[in-house]
Amino acid sequence: MTLDPYFEPSEGGDIAFSVEAPKIKFGPGSLAEIGDDAKALGMTRVALYTDPTVAKLNPVAVAEGSLKAAGIDVAIFDETEVEPTDRSFKAGTAFAEEGKFDGFVSVGGGSVMDTCKASNLYATYPDDFLAYVNAPIGEAKPVPGPLKPHIACPTTFGTASECTGIAVFDLLEMEAKTGIAHARLRPNLGILDPTALATLPRSIVAANGFDVFSHAVESLTARPFSHRPAPENSTLRPLGQGANPYSDLACTEAIRLIGANLIGAVNDDDNTKAHEPLMFAGMLAGIGFGNAGCHLPHGMSYAVAGLVRGYNAPGWPSNHPMVPHGISVIVNAPAVFRFTGPACPERHLKAAEAMGADISGAGLEDAGNVLADRVIDMMRQTGIPNGLSGVGYDENDLDALTDRAFIQKRLLVNSALEPDREQLKDLFRDSLSYW
Ligand SMILES: NC(=O)c1ccc[n+]([C@@H]2O[C@H](COP(=O)([O-])OP(=O)(O)OC[C@H]3O[C@@H](n4cnc5c(N)ncnc54)[C@H](O)[C@@H]3O)[C@@H](O)[C@H]2O)c1
Ligand SMILES: [Fe+2]
Repeated sequence: MTLDPYFEPSEGGDIAFSVEAPKIKFGPGSLAEIGDDAKALGMTRVALYTDPTVAKLNPVAVAEGSLKAAGIDVAIFDETEVEPTDRSFKAGTAFAEEGKFDGFVSVGGGSVMDTCKASNLYATYPDDFLAYVNAPIGEAKPVPGPLKPHIACPTTFGTASECTGIAVFDLLEMEAKTGIAHARLRPNLGILDPTALATLPRSIVAANGFDVFSHAVESLTARPFSHRPAPENSTLRPLGQGANPYSDLACTEAIRLIGANLIGAVNDDDNTKAHEPLMFAGMLAGIGFGNAGCHLPHGMSYAVAGLVRGYNAPGWPSNHPMVPHGISVIVNAPAVFRFTGPACPERHLKAAEAMGADISGAGLEDAGNVLADRVIDMMRQTGIPNGLSGVGYDENDLDALTDRAFIQKRLLVNSALEPDREQLKDLFRDSLSYW
């Protein structure tokens, strides 16, 4: 492919990339239109999923009011756990089964949107809990048919769960984060209303911003799609197909918007102006990683989140210890960039520049370090913990972390440079502390 030498053909590699675009509406005030959208999707009796905090905020009142004004019955489930567990998915499913709903609406962060997706799935096609869960933990059974329509309305901006067919949860008995992934889980519509972010605590803004940044950089520095083995037939091309020219475009702009707006959104007295570009960045990165796929920082994050002991993050509910998703990702990222830099230095420099680093005078051999240094500087300016030691881990945890992350094969192979087990352990060691 002559668009970019990064996509040069390889023996046995894929020859094409495909583009999946989620259906999305973006604009301040757009949540108030949800009644019309729900009606157009044939909804008459809706289960509205949220969590105990967001339940008391304006977006839930706006969505409920608009649905009712359109003549739609609404029942609210507000018991979603933040960073949900299988227990929370099961409680959401019981609610969906009892209510005989013909439509689903989620108003909240990734935790809420994912709980709504899973509840819709298990209530529509009941099965053993592990049946649909990703292998090797579950059976990875495909979703048997279409789900009930779902409109997802984020009140955070990091996960892009409104764009994806993924639902992430913590499997309590295994202390492991895992998920369910299938195109049929993707919501029918995402409504992105930046005014829904007005009440978001600053620490959560910071974590979401780094989640977006990491989705975008991981997609940009993923293995090129043309170096992934070609599928046996063209319908088997995976969603995480590797870096490609389409996701490059979306991700470069997402990184630029994060670099220009995140520090102000966390530190400025009036941060509302930043909400619109940040939410747009989250959407762009979601479209990007939805087509390219993430790699090492996310693969390592599942171990960091799953093995948590006593860490409680300021700004999040403290009813159970957890490392919030964006934090569990970004604490690994600088060490990863130093490792992957040599595999595609131009792309690491491009990301560093988009993020606001001064790259004049930087050579290709510095690329990974320049990006890592800029990220560390931004972590310090936005109150992110100092690496793994900042969230409660030390040298003694390196083997357990490595074991948990090494099974995330789908993510590891999508890196421009795939680590062996020793290299992965070194990456965790290098992530222990940055300053
Ligand atoms: N499905 C996917 O594709 C995908 C991708 C990445 C992450 N995830 C998952 O999403 C979850 C994290 O989601 P998240 O970061 O969006 O946060 P979240 O849903 O966990 O919410 C974080 C906190 O913010 C509060 N909150 C949410 N919106 C608010 C608002 N507008 N004002 C005030 N408080 C608000 C919540 O009540 C909660 O306490 C994790 O479980 C993660 O694994 C899913
Ligand atoms: Fe993420």
